[in-house]
Amino acid sequence: MPSPRLRRAIRDRLLDWFATHQRDLPWRRSRDPYRIWVSEIMLQQTQVATVVPYFERFVQAFPTLACLAAAEEHDVLRRWEGLGYYRRARSLPLAARQLASEHGSMVPNDPEVLSELPGMGRYTVGAVLSQAFERPTPILEANSQRVLCRLFGRDEDPRKGTARRRLWELAKRLLPKRRVGDFNQALMELGALVCTPAAPKCSACPLADKCVAQQQGLQEQIPVKVAPPRIVAVEEVAVVVRREGQVLLVKRPDTGRWAGLWEFPHGPLQKGEAHEDAVPRLLAELTGLQAERGPEILTVRHGVTRYRITMVCFDAEYRCGVFRSTLYPQAVWVAPAKLGSYAVSAPQRRLARAIVGSARQRQLF
Ligand code: ADE
Repeated sequence: MPSPRLRRAIRDRLLDWFATHQRDLPWRRSRDPYRIWVSEIMLQQTQVATVVPYFERFVQAFPTLACLAAAEEHDVLRRWEGLGYYRRARSLPLAARQLASEHGSMVPNDPEVLSELPGMGRYTVGAVLSQAFERPTPILEANSQRVLCRLFGRDEDPRKGTARRRLWELAKRLLPKRRVGDFNQALMELGALVCTPAAPKCSACPLADKCVAQQQGLQEQIPVKVAPPRIVAVEEVAVVVRREGQVLLVKRPDTGRWAGLWEFPHGPLQKGEAHEDAVPRLLAELTGLQAERGPEILTVRHGVTRYRITMVCFDAEYRCGVFRSTLYPQAVWVAPAKLGSYAVSAPQRRLARAIVGSARQRQLF
């Protein structure tokens, strides 16, 4: 453990640096525990710059915990659309309802209650309690982890066992008596702005002369990097079934990827199968419907975790059959102009936009 003197120097310098260098972020403008909680859920696995506009729209739509508790899941998902990791969007109103019925619609200053809520891990509990209530709870996420590993020259894998436990202990021991929330945010901010994964700006770092990695020239080696995941290419086909001016939209199940979002039926191509042949097969398997295949609409390329997906999208005209599916719990026929009110994934939104665009074109000519 660092000496009391070193700890004091680290705290003082980090807090001074934060006071003048922190970014002006919307969740830093008030100490409202609800806003801090929403921001921390959004910031899980997502960059600050991506989160900012989503956060602003979200708290405008649901300004208090009571509003969020009363919201329809569908409405919450629609406002989350494009931010990814949709489990978070589903856990927020669930947690809000729990707090509304048991804790007077307040985010409680209580680690035990917070830890029991859906979507709350040790990091998020610490971040909310320290920023909202100045409670001395440590945090550890990718940015602060990198700062601590370099500062103390920790070259073991910080994601594993004892190394991880030691980092949590360090993060706890470093906490100041006052301005705990600022201190935690300062650690993350230094990681985001100065102590970056590649080419850290050590000449601008307030802790440079205390940093073991900098003294030993090991900034690029610490923390140890995980091998990047092997990229897997996936070919998919999606089908837009039309019937009397409407299109078929199906709802994803409550678990798994994109849980609860709507989409056009789609699935992977079989080995050796032509894209055109996948259309009737997928429709029969996924919806029980038959349709006549029309022209290709567009090809959407997107990445999900380690998958690089190429989704070729076809038009089709409904012929016969009644919707039944072992995958999708629900289906609706929707006018293209109404597609905007359904929450869909980012690649599916591109397809929806193409359909709306082509419907408008048809009206023009
Ligand atoms: N990442 C997670 N929480 C954060 C915060 N409060 N400020 C900046 N980056 C963060």
